[in-house]
Amino acid sequence: MDCFLIEGGIPLHGEVQISGAKNAVLPLLAATLLTAEPCVIRRVPNLSDVRFMGQILTSLGAEVSFDTETVTTRAAQIRGFGDYNLIRKMRGSVCILGPLLARLHQAQVSLPGGCVIGARPIDLHLKGLRALGATISIERGYVCVQAPRLVGAEVFLGGRAGPTVLGTANIMMAATLAEGVTVIQSAACEPEVVDLAEFLVAMGAKITGAGTPFITITGVKELHGAAHEVIPDRIEAATYLLAGAVTNGEVTLHGARPDHLHAVLDKLHEAGVQVHRHGMALTVRRGPELTPVDITTQPYAGFPTDVQAQMMVLLALTQGIGIITERIFESRFTHASELARLGADIAIEGPSAIVKGGLPLSGAQLMASDLRASAALVLGGLVAQGQTLVKRIYHLDRGYEQMDEKLRRLGARVQRVPEPVSESRDDV
Ligand code: EPZ
Repeated sequence: MDCFLIEGGIPLHGEVQISGAKNAVLPLLAATLLTAEPCVIRRVPNLSDVRFMGQILTSLGAEVSFDTETVTTRAAQIRGFGDYNLIRKMRGSVCILGPLLARLHQAQVSLPGGCVIGARPIDLHLKGLRALGATISIERGYVCVQAPRLVGAEVFLGGRAGPTVLGTANIMMAATLAEGVTVIQSAACEPEVVDLAEFLVAMGAKITGAGTPFITITGVKELHGAAHEVIPDRIEAATYLLAGAVTNGEVTLHGARPDHLHAVLDKLHEAGVQVHRHGMALTVRRGPELTPVDITTQPYAGFPTDVQAQMMVLLALTQGIGIITERIFESRFTHASELARLGADIAIEGPSAIVKGGLPLSGAQLMASDLRASAALVLGGLVAQGQTLVKRIYHLDRGYEQMDEKLRRLGARVQRVPEPVSESRDDV
């Protein structure tokens, strides 16, 4: 397994190109199952999760070809069940349920497991599909759905933590070929949902209200092929804004969408980080003084849960106490104990992390545990004096395209190395 070996304490300077959004590409690829005609998706990041989704579509019988940042698919003849082990491994694959049901009126998908950040149930997905007329059973670890007819309905998709992003995607896709009108209430408003709706409309779907809590889909007989360019990755953008801020450098982002980053830009401003917009470029530098801030993660357009871990590094550098409250997932602070190995003082109290910032950070061996936590550990290593080794960097490769290369171009001393054969850390 690969690691990142980082020499910390170097301010980052230069320019970075933001890639297409992982969390937009996965449902977009699933949506190509809705038509037998070819689809072309551009600005696709080269990520393990994206390649995985391509393998899943192939296991369903679709033709999928990757050419640099462009993916071409043709789902002429597909079947309603894929490779159990493939689908089981990536939660994002749950969004093939809706398209398969709409196209084939049946589907069998391995029940996505929980992960380190939470149980990740799909009860709201299934509630929505039942509302459209599906019968659902859980058999031998599979979700089996059948619907001889899909009929439009009103469905409330709000859960204990608010709307569901992929649940909204699943129901929106299933409803495109249902008979009649579907209204999703308490729909997710994330830009990735809007991007999916735009692609579906380009395929001939009738959708209004995407980006608001109420999405209306009027079913059509069939959808045709289309081409689409993926929106930029707002989480990657936020991560590089924080990389410039925590290292006290000056970094310019190209290709980001500032209008997708309001909550992040607002909090960075409050914390004393300066972000200047010139055209579509964003330049970040630290102001004269950092100020501790309090953050609560919320559904879009609130502060994104996927930036919470990275923000904790900024708070660890800021004199004073900052509080991060995680309201979306039930256990998304695994990075806190790893950041503490660098010298950070972080106490977890229920859904909140209390960060006593301003302590010096020094390099250590760290273990990545999930995608965004691993990004936080890399940011921590960029700041800590001395060497930091971040292990299990495959987590990072799921969602950050060529992060080591992009950081080196910004002056960071980071290299990808094989995991040293050494004594395994005692997990007591
Ligand atoms: C998407 O996951 C993203 N993943 C996540 O990004 C992101 O953190 C999350 O949305 C929230 O913004 C992709 O788009 C591939 P949810 P999703 O359904 O759709 C609960 C990353 O790091 N819930 O919006 O799976 C759920 O447990 C990943 O890129 C139910 O209770 O998340 C959670 O507490 C991590 N029942 C909350 O809702 C359901 O049926 C939000 O989950 C579905 C969800």
